[in-house]
Amino acid sequence: MFIRLSIPFVLGAVVLAGAFDPLQHAGPASPYFDAPSQIPSSTPPNCKVDQAAYILRHGARYPEPGSFGGWQNLHAKLQNATYTARGPLAFIRSWSPPVDDAPHQPLYLTSTGAGEAFALGVDLRKRYGFTKGGDNFTVWAASQQRCVDTSTYFLRGYLSQGNYLATPELNRGRSILLADSVSYTHANSLTPSAACPAYASGSTGSAKANAYRATYQARVAQRLNTFLDGLTLDAGDIGPMQDLCGFQAGINGDTRFCDIFEESEWLDYEYAHDLNYFYGSGPGNPVSAATGYPWVKAVSDIFAAGPNAPTKGGLVPPPLIMGFTHDNNLPPVVAALGLWNATLSPTTPDPSRSFRASHVVAFRSYVALERMSCTAEGTSTNDVFVRVRINRAPVAIPGCASGPGASCPLKAFLAHVEERGVASGDFVQKCALQDVKNATSVASFLTTIPDPADVQLVSL
Ligand SMILES: *[C@@H]1O[C@H](CO)[C@@H](O)[C@H](O)[C@H]1NC(C)=O
Ligand SMILES: *[C@@H]1O[C@H](CO)[C@@H](O)[C@H](O)[C@H]1NC(C)=O
Ligand SMILES: *[C@@H]1O[C@H](CO)[C@@H](O)[C@H](O)[C@H]1NC(C)=O
Ligand SMILES: *[C@@H]1O[C@H](CO)[C@@H](O)[C@H](O)[C@H]1NC(C)=O
Repeated sequence: MFIRLSIPFVLGAVVLAGAFDPLQHAGPASPYFDAPSQIPSSTPPNCKVDQAAYILRHGARYPEPGSFGGWQNLHAKLQNATYTARGPLAFIRSWSPPVDDAPHQPLYLTSTGAGEAFALGVDLRKRYGFTKGGDNFTVWAASQQRCVDTSTYFLRGYLSQGNYLATPELNRGRSILLADSVSYTHANSLTPSAACPAYASGSTGSAKANAYRATYQARVAQRLNTFLDGLTLDAGDIGPMQDLCGFQAGINGDTRFCDIFEESEWLDYEYAHDLNYFYGSGPGNPVSAATGYPWVKAVSDIFAAGPNAPTKGGLVPPPLIMGFTHDNNLPPVVAALGLWNATLSPTTPDPSRSFRASHVVAFRSYVALERMSCTAEGTSTNDVFVRVRINRAPVAIPGCASGPGASCPLKAFLAHVEERGVASGDFVQKCALQDVKNATSVASFLTTIPDPADVQLVSL
């Protein structure tokens, strides 16, 4: 009896240990990973991507000063008692926060973040092969250093073919830097939600996330206290300890905090993040879509005109349009596109939900639109389609997925975007900026010749 039960148990445990990775359930603390998808992410046969636009979060970073303070408090508590720790907690007595240059690290990219950005440059260069030698490739970045640095490492990855030592001007990339999280740019930036006062008041994300955390953190602390004599963890210690799984994995590869928690505890941690982003910056904030829409509309206009078409503003964007920004600027784009809008229960996660923070705001996450030109089998007719990919995984637009790889025919996509403009609402109106003289609902930066002071050159 004992043997018959224990063998399947052991095998089951081995299988589960291989299948469940906390780093893929750590929400905004997860280093980048490709989201799962039923639809192959490769470009469909007989199709060629001729334009693509990405809006993405910067790569993995050190903690913000506030959460670093939380790590320091945890460390002080673990150092400040006489206790024994067993099992998965045996290491905590000798643990110290993985920040070894405190004046220079918090908020900035880690080397993992730089590597994520470089790897995406290599990946997209291989995927699209746009821009001869990568020369003079223009990208856009919100101007906080971690976004700018992500754009720089991305460009180095993208440009890193060949040798231009004698003619460096031929292998140049440039980042156009946009004022970051200021109010006066209105819709015309990569951080439009920060310029929308009504967006903050529309958010119920952190309240819902905190209420959900209150349902499990004390129970987790109690379970962990069974491994401790002389030290008592409380509910408030659980958040920093779970954050340390993803953050420390990114900083120095140490995953011991990942091993402390059980699968169900990771799923609760992940769901609190889902509530935070869905109701904070995603479809659950009634103002969010209006802040994501200007970017969607700008890209849709560029796709309608096709590659290398002249623009009113005089700047012809490259066929690959990259915008480097922050986590909270991705869910508004999801909302504006009309994706993943199924209400999340405040108490009961639906395991089949589409909206998962780990799949859209992990470090270096992206929402991408691809314009594909496809030849129908056995003909020379060219049809044009648009496909959404989020963290590589293709995502079907509801009601518009008849094309190759669940893509949407261009004409239908343009109509969808117009409908979504109505559903999302106008930026100036939704944000209650009617009385602000120069407030704009249009993101024109992708087609506007920049002030030279805002251009940063990157060469090899
Ligand atoms: C350290 O222990 C002392 C004495 O028990 C206590 O007063 C103090 O609050 C503790 N500090 C921390 C950071 O836990
Ligand atoms: C890069 O392109 C921009 C606009 O397309 C142009 O103004 C600039 O002179 C170019 N720079 C180089 C080094 O070719
Ligand atoms: C609006 O006006 C302010 C103050 O003059 C200026 O700083 C800002 O750049 C303007 N915004 C836009 C979008 O033109
Ligand atoms: C999401 O669905 C709800 C209910 O149908 C709707 O009221 C809301 O406007 C939708 N949100 C977005 C961003 O489309």
